[in-house]
Amino acid sequence: MSNVARFWRLACPLALLSVAASALPAPKPVLGYNTWNAFRTNIDEQLIRDTADRLVETGLAAAGYTYLNIDDGWSEKRRDGSGCLVAHRRRFPSGMAALAEHVHSRGLRFGIYGDAGKRTCAGYPGSRGHEEVDAETWAQWGVDLLKYDNCNYDAHDWDPVPRYTAMRDALNATGRPITFSLCNWGWLRPWLWADKVGHSWRTTGDIEPTWDSMMEVLDANADLARFSWPDRDWGDADMLEVGNGKLTLGEQRAHFALWALLKSPLLIGTDLRSIHPDSLAILKAREVIAINQDSLGVPGDLVWVEGDLRVYAAPLAGGSRAVVLLNAGSSGPANITVSWTQLGLPAGAAAAARDLFGQCDLGDFAGAFSAAVPPHDVAVLRLAPLSSSNSSTAADNGWRPWHQLHAQLPPRQPRGSAKGWLLAGAAAVAVLLAAATVAVVRRRRRAGGSGWRQLGGTDGTAIAASGSVQLGPAVLVGPAVRIGRGGKPDEQV
Ligand code: GLA
Repeated sequence: MSNVARFWRLACPLALLSVAASALPAPKPVLGYNTWNAFRTNIDEQLIRDTADRLVETGLAAAGYTYLNIDDGWSEKRRDGSGCLVAHRRRFPSGMAALAEHVHSRGLRFGIYGDAGKRTCAGYPGSRGHEEVDAETWAQWGVDLLKYDNCNYDAHDWDPVPRYTAMRDALNATGRPITFSLCNWGWLRPWLWADKVGHSWRTTGDIEPTWDSMMEVLDANADLARFSWPDRDWGDADMLEVGNGKLTLGEQRAHFALWALLKSPLLIGTDLRSIHPDSLAILKAREVIAINQDSLGVPGDLVWVEGDLRVYAAPLAGGSRAVVLLNAGSSGPANITVSWTQLGLPAGAAAAARDLFGQCDLGDFAGAFSAAVPPHDVAVLRLAPLSSSNSSTAADNGWRPWHQLHAQLPPRQPRGSAKGWLLAGAAAVAVLLAAATVAVVRRRRRAGGSGWRQLGGTDGTAIAASGSVQLGPAVLVGPAVRIGRGGKPDEQV
């Protein structure tokens, strides 16, 4: 422990309620809740207690959503006389250690927010220059996750790598396992460096509860799948807007399924005291969550696009494929077909199809599968090759959805703000990178259920250039033919 931290330990008047650090589960995208999308800085301890209760009562905690993260606005605007962060006295009168204890008592984990600059985005004290003191404070409060933002840094201190690395080192020095969630909005391509620093990295600026915003974030994530995996880290497509704004149920389904497929952390961002049962059902869709938490840990990506119609896919443990057929158009239902060749399956193989929102088997199919998808909606499937058709195929989970289709996405209007332009710039850098880098590939270390990963310098995983998989000209195959399990021949699903 450094001298600063040692001094601080003596100086800070903390409730030293340190909940024993338990081993975290195998590294998977975080499932939980965050206050920002629904409440901004209008947060207090009663809201957190109510949300903890609702996570349990609604069955969301049992479905896996175990992190309860407080975002910006939780502290006083000034540090105390010892230089420590203090919880807002009026809104969090019991203090953060007591609140963390309550959250833990509900079987949940407790997350908090900080900033790698002088002030947070909402103007509360930042942690730059106070990394050790703040990390120690959070550890002693019993914090399990830190979301670390990127506002208000000094111009000379622009480089996020040393700023985020300093907090990584401070967190490690506490000895408490704290999930480190980087939020620098994709600046300086965190997918190239953040695996040595944290457990997830935000890919874009802030999402809003609109279809356009959701699609904008989705498109910025195209071609990033290749940079995430279990022993490394996860791309974070930002918190969920399911249940917010005027998103239709189809739009909420699409948002949720695609974020699950991207292996993004899934952080609920709506008011759980008043959530509509249909939105709750989407968030609890067990088999869609299972895509996100699949032990193979390979993010899905875009594998086919034509106009408003898209196919996203990911390999799953055991050789199945998760597939999202997205109708991004608004004019009416459209038939979308995924062919086996788009999924790295032999064209002649038979596969069992399952509807993951509906939780029902659809039958066995050969070569392709089609669905009529309503506008701004998805069909979400698992395709499991039948072992009888080709046993080596059935176990093939080595296929990767790397296709570099980003450049083929329709252009989107930046939303006009300075941040929007910056995002557009970041997206352009990503495209250039994708074009210049012939592709990545190196042998992945398998997840293998290891426990907590100490941050930094862990695996030396290199981003190496090598040949990329080329997707041939996209060809829509004919209607999928159901070949078994109760369907009629030629029946479209
Ligand atoms: C930034 C982040 C958001 C949220 C706010 C809080 O905008 O990207 O997710 O944390 O700050 O001020």
